[in-house]
Amino acid sequence: MSSPTTPAATTATLDYNGKSLSLPVITGSEGEVGIDISQLRAKTGAITVDPGFGNTGACRSSITFIDGERGILQYRGYPIEELAEKSSFLEVAWLLINGELPSAKQLTEFEQLISIHTMVHQDFNRFFEGFPKDAHPMPVCAAAVGALATFYQQPETEQNLRESVIRLIAKMPTIASYSYKHSIGQPSMYPQNKLDYSSNFLHMMFATPCEDYVVNPVLAKAVDMLLILHADHEQNCSTSTVRVVGSSRANLFASISAGISALWGPLHGGANQQVIEMLDAIEAEGGDVQKFVNKAKDKKDNSRLMGFGHRVYKNFDPRAVILKKSCMDVLNTLGIKSRQLDIAMQLEDIALKDDYFISHKLYPNVDFYSGIIYKALNIPVNMFTVMFTLGRMPGWIAQWLEMHKDPDTRIVRPRQIYTGATKRPYIPMNQR
Ligand code: ACO
Repeated sequence: MSSPTTPAATTATLDYNGKSLSLPVITGSEGEVGIDISQLRAKTGAITVDPGFGNTGACRSSITFIDGERGILQYRGYPIEELAEKSSFLEVAWLLINGELPSAKQLTEFEQLISIHTMVHQDFNRFFEGFPKDAHPMPVCAAAVGALATFYQQPETEQNLRESVIRLIAKMPTIASYSYKHSIGQPSMYPQNKLDYSSNFLHMMFATPCEDYVVNPVLAKAVDMLLILHADHEQNCSTSTVRVVGSSRANLFASISAGISALWGPLHGGANQQVIEMLDAIEAEGGDVQKFVNKAKDKKDNSRLMGFGHRVYKNFDPRAVILKKSCMDVLNTLGIKSRQLDIAMQLEDIALKDDYFISHKLYPNVDFYSGIIYKALNIPVNMFTVMFTLGRMPGWIAQWLEMHKDPDTRIVRPRQIYTGATKRPYIPMNQR
């Protein structure tokens, strides 16, 4: 198959079974190139095979751009480094959902709208009570977000959709903190609408009816920045899940609930919990970092270096660079000496010089340092992936809305290459 070597080529040619097929080439605004194979099966009878969809562009999107080779991440054209430093999470949420940065008036109105929708229906308390005490907060959050669809069953008009968007962003910190409070047997705390988004979340996590919690602005700022870094990441596993479920015209709450379940997996958002568990295990075994690196390289051993490697980033993950610095800043500001940070830095140092990690293009990803910051902020380990969920919410919403409005959207229905038994007669039970 001839493939275009420059973005200027407008067609690619596929030779198959003695026939030559011209395939259109699509070029994105940052020069990304895709070969449109949508007519391939109709014209040749063949399909493409791409396990894990590593080479498959499932949609056109104008939300997030990633260049994995150059370590570039942009939301709506704005570099992640600038947004992390200068913006707020709610401003970034607006940007992702609406396509442009908000004016001061739009942002104030958005913040006010979010702050008045933070409460969940009182009946939700009964819902949380039904879960076992040791329930992991991720499936609880997935179930709770899915259950929002039972409380808001209006037809999907533009106005109702706008309200669903506000409700999801506003109620997510409340749902997240309720799932935590339930797991430790404490009463859930009502939101305080005078607090900003991240401070309100910390209040609901750590205040009790007996004791106020004074939010440290340094911690609230760190949480806000972490949420910005997680806000979107184009067609990753959970976002693709949201789009796949939404392509059947399932509603926003149901689609996002499915995305939360996908995010929970240890190869995706669940890796931040695994990183801390890995660092703890290394420490418990005497702190021999090299031994763990050797295990991660050994094909006979199932261990991987959690928080290392990425499907798209093959040079560095820009979010990990920001997080490493922020991690050190937060620990310094709080005067915390972290053994886990020491081990993580040793691990990174050894891995980045190791031929295996160099040749496999494995670098720290967003999950490598985020867990250490969460620990410093007193966020319990099983809540780490929930923090990721809070951050990813506007990205999932923006992607779902984009898919919903795109006239090219079709229900997602991949094909397969069948490798099972060929047609054969049924064998009666007494002859088996
Ligand atoms: N440690 C050791 N080896 C690794 C690691 C790792 N963390 N990651 C990949 N490899 C190796 C694989 O063994 C494989 O080696 P081989 O080609 O010699 O057989 C090769 O690198 C390619 O690995 P794949 O699993 O095919 O790469 P893929 O792109 O499918 O997976 C993933 C990417 C899931 C992120 C992987 O790197 C991984 O498991 N990392 C650890 C988990 C993690 O940190 N996940 C968070 C990702 S960020 C996020 O989702 C928010």
